[in-house]
Amino acid sequence: MNMPDTMKENIAITDVPKIIVAIDGYSSSGKSTMARELARRISYVYIDSGAMYRAVTLYALQNGLIESDGKIKTQELIEHLPDIEVSFQKNAGKDGVQHTLLNGKDVESEIRSMEVSNNVSPIAEIPEVRQRMVELQQKFGIHKGIVMDGRDIGTTVFPHAELKIFVYAGLHERAKRRWAELQHKGTDLSYEEVYKNLEQRDKIDTTRAVSPLRKAPDAIELDNGAITHEEQMEWLMRHFQLKLEEISNNL
Ligand code: DC
Repeated sequence: MNMPDTMKENIAITDVPKIIVAIDGYSSSGKSTMARELARRISYVYIDSGAMYRAVTLYALQNGLIESDGKIKTQELIEHLPDIEVSFQKNAGKDGVQHTLLNGKDVESEIRSMEVSNNVSPIAEIPEVRQRMVELQQKFGIHKGIVMDGRDIGTTVFPHAELKIFVYAGLHERAKRRWAELQHKGTDLSYEEVYKNLEQRDKIDTTRAVSPLRKAPDAIELDNGAITHEEQMEWLMRHFQLKLEEISNNL
């Protein structure tokens, strides 16, 4: 269906089949905030894939599968994987935001703790953990109409996603943002600790053997360092709309 240019701006979200939006990028680059807000505006499902790796990490911590020196009991964790169920529930908390559930229990706040942040990257490196999470993530996207953010969404989880975004921001900018968030939550950590944690996670995320953080060749880049939230959203909505127009033209 080829449309005259004058009609294109009238394309509504409901005029074309639902798509998959994959948003990848570095830790604390602001991608989750953008992804969640996009999903809300376009009435799509939002999945925070990082929350899933965090939930597995919390499970490992709660079940003594991480030793005090940080060493993971990898084989035991792999054996426990069938017992780990991660799901999401909208409006589970009073804040109206989607919460992460681990085996049916709301763990949204626990998975954001520094203890989980400090242990999550090595857990996310384990191929068996990734395989199980990727399977779950693909199930969430089976009916499309989903915005998912993470590190390997556009490369591994949904290599055929219609719209792929890759978010950059400098380490200093990200550490500042994360530190402010933690302060707001009442967590008393120094800026240097937050900076080091992010630096370490970047290193593991980009160098791990399985599904390292990479920009998919067909992803559109966004430098998120120096723009406001509203500018991010305008940029994202524009690219979403352009994608709908492109799909609509090819129908
Ligand atoms: O986005 P986040 O900081 O909540 O992610 C937590 C950790 O999980 C981070 O160290 C990277 C990892 N992760 C991953 O390996 N693959 C994903 N798709 C999402 C997150």
